[in-house]
Amino acid sequence: MKALVLAAGKGTRLRPLTHTLPKHLLPVGNKPILLHVLDYIVEAGIEDIGIVVSPDTEPHIREAIGEQRRGRASIEFIRQSEPGGLAHAVQIAEGFLDDSEFLMFLGDNLVQNGVKEFVEAFYVSACDASILLKEVDDPRPFGVADVDASGKVTRMLEKPKEPKSNLVVIGVYIFTSEIHKAIARTKPSWRGELEITDAMQSLLEMGKEIRSCVLPGWWLDIGSNQGLIEANRVVLDAYSERDIKGKALNSRIEGRVQVEEGARIVNSLVRGPAFIATDCQIVNSTIAPFTNIRAGTVVENSSVERSVILEACRIARVRSLTDSVIGRSSTLLGFGNDTGPEKVSVCLGDDSKIEMEC
Ligand code: DAU
Repeated sequence: MKALVLAAGKGTRLRPLTHTLPKHLLPVGNKPILLHVLDYIVEAGIEDIGIVVSPDTEPHIREAIGEQRRGRASIEFIRQSEPGGLAHAVQIAEGFLDDSEFLMFLGDNLVQNGVKEFVEAFYVSACDASILLKEVDDPRPFGVADVDASGKVTRMLEKPKEPKSNLVVIGVYIFTSEIHKAIARTKPSWRGELEITDAMQSLLEMGKEIRSCVLPGWWLDIGSNQGLIEANRVVLDAYSERDIKGKALNSRIEGRVQVEEGARIVNSLVRGPAFIATDCQIVNSTIAPFTNIRAGTVVENSSVERSVILEACRIARVRSLTDSVIGRSSTLLGFGNDTGPEKVSVCLGDDSKIEMEC
């Protein structure tokens, strides 16, 4: 089996961060979303991975992945020049996919416990496609599947106004080569995209069988800044382990905190789950749970909680920064007096600079 990871698309709902960085590279817990996805795939035993990238995301993604391998798997990049839809991405990847069965993974989705069991269940199922579903309160923004009591899919609809089921398609699918014939029969949707959900409906109309599994654990679709903060909370909570490689001087580090080599914590309190990357400096500060601080960031005389602070930022004299996302090389300076609001929540793109009373 091969794997196809979709990492083109514009990521407009995560602006301003995605003006300069693909959403697939935003960190969740100790690594970018896309690397979690690649690790799920490698763990499921798949060794041929194609990543669909756009002209905008390609250079960033190539740089982040570094070599063209992850574990035992080799990686090929496939360029999609326009975001023509998920089925369009499969079409342009046909040369890579050939006649193989493949796992398709949307590169901005995370699932609890990976996809090993889902892949193994497909091998014994003898069906033409298999999808992971999740029950949600409001299915309207997603692909929706009607299924019978045995888990066989009977109908698929993309973003229906009046869904009959509350089981939504999460971004993980397995297809045989039959999907290529189904895509060839599919027309662009009202949003001008070739939808994989419509292609699956065509597959059903061709008399093919689609099985489904309902995901028991969490599913994170990182579609907004609040979604990123929440995903970070869930993943830090699920995977953090205590691992202090950096230096802590006159400081207290409580619970499941990862401090990478080269980081320095001075006169500070860090409460886990939290992640502090290499070359960070935390001085006279409190880092409260669910905070993710990336490489080279400096936090001084401040308190930070439930936030994602990207690389090379400086945060100084900010009394309480909470539920925030801060882009790379940004500066956030408080005046260090008690006149401003007690808590500050911001979402800043790369290279921002803010001075404020707080
Ligand atoms: O998140 C689950 C949902 O993902 C499903 O329930 C829907 O059925 C499915 O259509 C999809 O809906 P979205 O509207 O949320 O898809 P989005 O445009 O956000 O794209 C999902 C991923 O695929 C994202 O990582 C970008 C990538 N992509 C998207 C398009 C349109 C591509 O690589 N190429 C594309 O042409």
